[in-house]
Amino acid sequence: MSIPRGRFVTSASLNRLSRVSLAIVITSAMACDRPASDSPSSASSGEMPQPAARDLHSYGNPGEVVVRHLDLEWDVRFDRRALDGTATLEIERLSESADTLRLDTRDLSVTAVDLTDDGQTWSPTRFVLGDADPILGAPLEISLSTGATSVRVTYSTNPNASGVQWLEPSQTAGKQHPFMFTQSQAIHARSWIPLQDSPGVRVTYRATVRTPTALRAVMSAANQADAPLSGEFTFEMRQPIPSYLIALAVGDLQFRAMSPRTGVYAEPLVVESAAAEFEDTEAMMAATERLYGPYRWERYDLLVLPPSFPFGGMENPRLTFATPTIIAGDKSLVVLVAHELAHSWSGNLVTNATWRDFWLNEAFTVYLERRILEEVFGRARVDMEATLDRATLAEELARLEPPDQILHVDLSGRDPDDGMTQVPYLKGELLLRLLENTVGRARFDSFLRAYFDHFAFRSITTADFVAYLEDQLLSEVETGVVDALQLDRWLEEPGLPANAPLAESDALTRVAGQAARWAGGEVTAGALDTAPWTTQEWLHFLTSVPDTLTADQMRELDDAFGFTQVGNSEVAHLWLLTAIRNHYAPAYPRLESYLIEIGRRKLIKPLYDELVKTTDGRARAEAIYERARPGYHPISVSSIDDVLSR
Ligand code: BES
Ligand code: ZN
Repeated sequence: MSIPRGRFVTSASLNRLSRVSLAIVITSAMACDRPASDSPSSASSGEMPQPAARDLHSYGNPGEVVVRHLDLEWDVRFDRRALDGTATLEIERLSESADTLRLDTRDLSVTAVDLTDDGQTWSPTRFVLGDADPILGAPLEISLSTGATSVRVTYSTNPNASGVQWLEPSQTAGKQHPFMFTQSQAIHARSWIPLQDSPGVRVTYRATVRTPTALRAVMSAANQADAPLSGEFTFEMRQPIPSYLIALAVGDLQFRAMSPRTGVYAEPLVVESAAAEFEDTEAMMAATERLYGPYRWERYDLLVLPPSFPFGGMENPRLTFATPTIIAGDKSLVVLVAHELAHSWSGNLVTNATWRDFWLNEAFTVYLERRILEEVFGRARVDMEATLDRATLAEELARLEPPDQILHVDLSGRDPDDGMTQVPYLKGELLLRLLENTVGRARFDSFLRAYFDHFAFRSITTADFVAYLEDQLLSEVETGVVDALQLDRWLEEPGLPANAPLAESDALTRVAGQAARWAGGEVTAGALDTAPWTTQEWLHFLTSVPDTLTADQMRELDDAFGFTQVGNSEVAHLWLLTAIRNHYAPAYPRLESYLIEIGRRKLIKPLYDELVKTTDGRARAEAIYERARPGYHPISVSSIDDVLSR
């Protein structure tokens, strides 16, 4: 049989809060010596009201001197696992008395800093690289002359830069060439570029990247798909973007067009299947434009990375980075493309001003993703996704401490990656659904469209959103109805308010019924009516069977459905979880190869979490991890290190 594929059901589990107490001390110390006017949420806006949104996760001083444009130049040194080069920052002084530019860095070796008044003559200036904080990295303080318009930093990255992964040829599909890629969100851009690493600061950029001649470089910018492999590539991003969206990858990459404005970059062995899998991308773009206004970034391309990419997808503008684990052969996991594409409106166009406003990026994106899915694949599919996600959210809320169940979460003293739970995504999406249900779809759609226009290319806080919502939408709604929303409770309190919309899927209800009949011994696995099941139904089946199964039951399922060998990465994930829980040894070889090949945190961390629950399992986890760790991305390494050190 062939099992279709779908979205992974159980929660993406996240880093434990291992450094909380230490970090609180650091942040409160920081808070004292930084004026509240630092880091306005929308540094580039002249006419906009400037809410006092301090970004606790940046040392930058954009309230005094703000960076507007970057010119980047690197040699990509695979031999030393380093980028060597310069970052030239065009600055604007917002305060006349400002004599210092403060930047974020992490593990950078800075060898020189020069200034220019006219873009022609450069002269060295004094700089101080401060002590490194474990979460924030080290501030770089640069003394400015009165007339300085640009600052040029000469530097190299560290081989262990948190935002860069360097891969051996053996970790790629082709096995011939090395590969490197960056992942800047949330605060990792500073590990490969010295800059004001805050989502409230937007820059345009140009870059020149020198590579070994067999390889191609691509960036979150205008790429030239037909540029010859000359060893030098140039890029330009004309729209102002926050630092977490700056991205670079270098490898043996080919390009396939899917439509005049969409295409895929991938290794030669992967590029055809990727283009086939993602062929609905143009339809998704057209659907989103009909609903929410023009796509403002000209092209939309995807880059398929090697399987160590730690996330499902990353919405780097003009060039989404994606895991190869969504290439299932039947388009069943392309909801991820809808999601990353939707960020072109929610996130990349209208951006969270600080990481505590992260829910603004992700909730709107999940909402849009569902609307795109409904347009392209129909309502039944959305009902399934929503139902599965409702269960995921319930599990996540059960696991999280109350403060982490809050949409407008307090991240002071913590790594913003700690805020990346299901809450901003799924609780946030339910709030937007509730608003839609309250005012009606037509009104909510025009509100959203106006919201994207109004805040285009700006970074906004939760308070900015609430003010706009009240002004543009809720002012036309009866007071009683507005009160019943309990907006404040949704944003500032833990748990899920009782007025959260429900999700229901007839198809999944039928699946759960079949799972119960099988578990109750009424019917054998082979006699179940699974022929029409989609991935979402298979995933729901695997979450609906009892947690504890007998050896005979495990074997029966495996014999009937071939779960141990299933290709779909998400179905395989849930089966392997079931196998660990029930000590089903025939699945162990697959478990090992799965954990060694795939580095996507959401797919691997829950498996390690389950393994360490027993003594045997822990030994197995340690043995596998010893082999797998060298191939994992720093982000996954840090999460799995946490699991195994508990
Ligand atoms: N922007 C996120 C990924 C991210 C968030 C990286 C925070 C680092 C810090 C991206 O859009 C995302 O949400 N990816 C999801 C897929 C999605 C379909 C829910 C993922 O990678 O699992
Ligand atoms: Zn997202």
